[in-house]
Amino acid sequence: MRIAVTGGAGYIGSHVALELMQAEHDVVIVDNLSNSSEVSVQRVADLAGHAPAFYQTDIRDVQEIRRIFSYHSIEAVLHFAGLKAVGESVSEPLAYYDNNVNGSLQLLQVMRELGIRQFIFSSSATVYGQQEQPPFAEHAALGPTNPYGHSKRMVEQLLEDLCVSDPSWRVAALRYFNPAGAHPSGLIGEVPRGVPNNLMPYVLGVLTGRYEQLRVFGQDYPTPDGTGVRDYIHVMDLASGHVAALDYLQQHAGFNVFNLGTGCGYSVLQVVETFEQVSGHGIPYTVLPRRPGDVAESFAVADKAWKSMSWRAERTLQSMCQDAWNFAQRNPEAY
Ligand code: NAD
Ligand code: UD1
Repeated sequence: MRIAVTGGAGYIGSHVALELMQAEHDVVIVDNLSNSSEVSVQRVADLAGHAPAFYQTDIRDVQEIRRIFSYHSIEAVLHFAGLKAVGESVSEPLAYYDNNVNGSLQLLQVMRELGIRQFIFSSSATVYGQQEQPPFAEHAALGPTNPYGHSKRMVEQLLEDLCVSDPSWRVAALRYFNPAGAHPSGLIGEVPRGVPNNLMPYVLGVLTGRYEQLRVFGQDYPTPDGTGVRDYIHVMDLASGHVAALDYLQQHAGFNVFNLGTGCGYSVLQVVETFEQVSGHGIPYTVLPRRPGDVAESFAVADKAWKSMSWRAERTLQSMCQDAWNFAQRNPEAY
């Protein structure tokens, strides 16, 4: 198929673009490079053995998107482009609603105009409400608690309404749990800009000497070791999950939601230990109070994706840490 990947220069989009190219799809990457670099597109080309088409364009530039999609006769859009920092979304809500909600809306309007009806959306487990206890199945009550989460929830609602209005749409909203790891080659991976908020990139910052110690946010949660538990999923598993979802949409119209998680939770200290094992280095840490807004545990019921599209995550926490560490060592200056 001829597939547009918005945000394809970013962390998850670059891994998915590569997976699609390796599955013989024609890939067109559209990214404004606000949180990424063209180097990742070059690396994807190196790994695939041929280059994807690439446009440094904002998804809100309707004229340009229309031109690109019609020039390449795009048949499906995988939509990763957006802003993703929870804290920033609280201080800059307009930027988040503009990029994430308005950006998606503009994209869908162009798609409707051009008769493109297949769409895969990067949603997040952050849409689940705190009134529910994990594990979260897809039918659990929703209740995001910050503008980033609201923007994901709004786009899901928009997509659901669109599918009701016109049954020819084929849409999957994929709710990622905690993406981690990198391509095993060490050529593409996560390159956080500024001080990372998330656990894995921060631990890597400690391992590479950028930060002195990890700050563990809370050791008084009702979890086995008192630290927060999350469902980390290897970005390579996420990539194969998108190809499975695209295959699924060939047989299933309408609005479909899938969790992409492993169904297993690991604590902050288990992540630290695993990084210590794969790197052979100690990771100093200090325990601080809980981070506002954090929950004790979050992990998926991952059965629906397995039953419906025969996809499940295969890779272990060990391989996530190994591949992330390999990427960090090979790219000390990032890119
Ligand atoms: P990322 O920042 O690495 O990738 C997003 C890409 O989109 C970047 O390359 C950025 O330059 C581009 N972009 C942003 N706004 C754009 C715009 N208006 N026009 C064109 N390009 C634009 O982030 P990621 O981790 O790869 O996340 C991809 C998607 O998955 C996002 O929608 C994110 O919200 C979602 N998601 C991520 C996580 C996670 O933990 N990484 C978890 C759940 C959901
Ligand atoms: C974050 C996002 C969430 C997003 C998810 C997936 C926030 C508040 N939430 O959640 O919206 O869907 O990523 O990418 O950013 N931790 C530390 N020290 C650190 C960093 C984290 O102890 O320096 C702990 C946290 O308290 C948590 C765990 O590590 O228990 C994981 O944190 P993080 O990687 O930020 O992911 P989430 O909290 O799940």
